[in-house]
Amino acid sequence: MHVDRADRIEPTVLSIQSMLTKIDRLHLPAASRRDLESILVRQVVKELDRLLPWQAGHGEETAVLAFRIGHAMRLNDEVLHQLKLAALLHDVGLLMLPAHLQTRQRSLDTDSYVAIQNHPRLGATLLEPFSFLREATVMIAYHHERWDGSGYPYGLRGAFIPIGARILAVADAFEAIQVPHTQDRSLRDHVALRILQVASGTQFDPVVVETLAERCKETDLLHAESLYTGTTAGVRPTPASKWEAPPLPLYRQGSSPPEGPCRPDSIG
Ligand SMILES: [Fe+2]
Repeated sequence: MHVDRADRIEPTVLSIQSMLTKIDRLHLPAASRRDLESILVRQVVKELDRLLPWQAGHGEETAVLAFRIGHAMRLNDEVLHQLKLAALLHDVGLLMLPAHLQTRQRSLDTDSYVAIQNHPRLGATLLEPFSFLREATVMIAYHHERWDGSGYPYGLRGAFIPIGARILAVADAFEAIQVPHTQDRSLRDHVALRILQVASGTQFDPVVVETLAERCKETDLLHAESLYTGTTAGVRPTPASKWEAPPLPLYRQGSSPPEGPCRPDSIG
């Protein structure tokens, strides 16, 4: 892939490229490489959050969830590391869209929608030169593909979509769903999970959705146990059945609601 119209690259993109170039040139020993790459990429993500404030925090939260799912699916350590980096940076391609498309919008005309659908490809183009992101770049390129082949920008289907991209798609969607009129994170998570389960087998890899559901269930059990033993580590969520799912997921904005049942604390 090549960066098209290099003469039009914005200074913001150049600053991200410069930060990534410094990380790429470190040539770190294997023992410390992953930790340091994670720390330094998070500095890049801070810059991304500053440039795209309407979705600040989305990369970090998507990374936490993607890592958790990948770990449960027994991906090896290097793939897990690349998955984490991919999740942190997955929407970097938005910076290469025209300025008026880099803000949060509720309605889009057809041309704008088509342009935004190109952001996975643009992001991969931006990241491809950096060897420490080799596998992460592939995951980012395919993070809006759908299990049934109706996704974008390439229209890949099923197992032809790399497993990291399939996990990233689920984590990204789960984190992006907003439930209006509630600050209850447990409730939001239950509604989000139900939405993903409805789209399992069409939009999402059913195995990945099932893995997410299992993780949520296990964490619920932990909460139940903590209530039983009288500790305050968790709060039993309100039953999701009292709620109707919202019509469509919307991208989240900056604020972070309280912890919920599907939320690990952090990743390395
Ligand atoms: Fe995206």
